[in-house]
Amino acid sequence: MEAVLIDPTKEGAEKLCLGTVPTPRPADGEVLVEVRAVALSAWEKGFVQNDDPRSLTRRTRRRAVNLGLEFSGVVRSDGRRFTRGQRVMGGPHLTKGEKALAQYVAAPEEYLAELPDTLDFTPAAALPIGAETALTGLDKAAPRPGDSVLVVGASGGVGVYAVQIAAALGADVTAIGGRNSAPRLKELGARTVHSYRDTTFEDLTGTYDVVFDLSGRLHFSQVGKKLTRTGTFVNVNPHKDLAGMAAALFSRRKAPLVYVPHSSTTAQTRILEMVTRGAITPVVEAAHDIAHLRTAFTDLTRNERLGKIIVTWPPD
Ligand SMILES: NC(=O)c1ccc[n+]([C@@H]2O[C@H](COP(=O)([O-])OP(=O)(O)OC[C@H]3O[C@@H](n4cnc5c(N)ncnc54)[C@H](OP(=O)(O)O)[C@@H]3O)[C@@H](O)[C@H]2O)c1
Repeated sequence: MEAVLIDPTKEGAEKLCLGTVPTPRPADGEVLVEVRAVALSAWEKGFVQNDDPRSLTRRTRRRAVNLGLEFSGVVRSDGRRFTRGQRVMGGPHLTKGEKALAQYVAAPEEYLAELPDTLDFTPAAALPIGAETALTGLDKAAPRPGDSVLVVGASGGVGVYAVQIAAALGADVTAIGGRNSAPRLKELGARTVHSYRDTTFEDLTGTYDVVFDLSGRLHFSQVGKKLTRTGTFVNVNPHKDLAGMAAALFSRRKAPLVYVPHSSTTAQTRILEMVTRGAITPVVEAAHDIAHLRTAFTDLTRNERLGKIIVTWPPD
């Protein structure tokens, strides 16, 4: 099959190229999926910007790249839950097994959900991990109608869903996003939008019931001052604030751990149900055919993007 390979002699997006590798064989509990669209997100951005500590660039041989954490496609083998021809979406395991930036991926069935007929592959690929991370964070924070929710990093691949899900729950949503993101974030449900270029977290006055940080820059010690007495700090990068996570154990304010290492059928099904009833909408900044792979990665590293960059594969 065709797959994205890494050429370790090159830099940035230039180190990505197309090549041929063996088609994966699904193990017990997995199905083979013909990939039709893949979302690029923070994981891939870290890879091209070379700040991923797990980057394998020290090796010298060309090899399949360990990227592609959200995909949609068509099942091409019979499993226990899924059969050939079903259209699905899901997200491979962050640290184990194959990723989806290839023509086929062998995916655990328990990670997948079937797409409704009304949802195309490109918007579907924009959902799995971004929406599941937002959903998990908001399940833990459990804002009630009228609660104030601040989403920091609202224009990114997780933030666009955090805004929508919080608004669908009836929360009063304030968003901090990229400079040009205000009109779109308001359409997605934010009542107030600030550009992080003009307004920092420290500049905000008032308190929030929930602060959901996707910028990876906030710590519990600074967020606490802007939380209500029993407010919740949702931190998707807890490894960057271990002291804060520990301090939260002894505080009335909460900082639950959010870790979504792969998608789950249960959450994906809930997300698709929200899409079907119009509570959330997939957010795609741009879609590029696999032939324009490097352009897609260049787009990804550009600031001021809203939502996901998608790479599409033509049908086999
Ligand atoms: N715990 C988990 O299971 C889990 C799962 C998925 C993701 N994550 C983490 O969640 C984070 C967000 O992921 P993502 O896919 O949404 O990334 P993303 O698409 O890169 O979004 C990050 C957003 O933050 C914005 N931003 C940058 N600096 C900011 C600042 N100072 N203040 C406010 N916003 C700022 C960016 O704007 P620009 O485009 O202008 O730079 C971008 O819109 C990443 O750290 C990722 O590793 C964790």
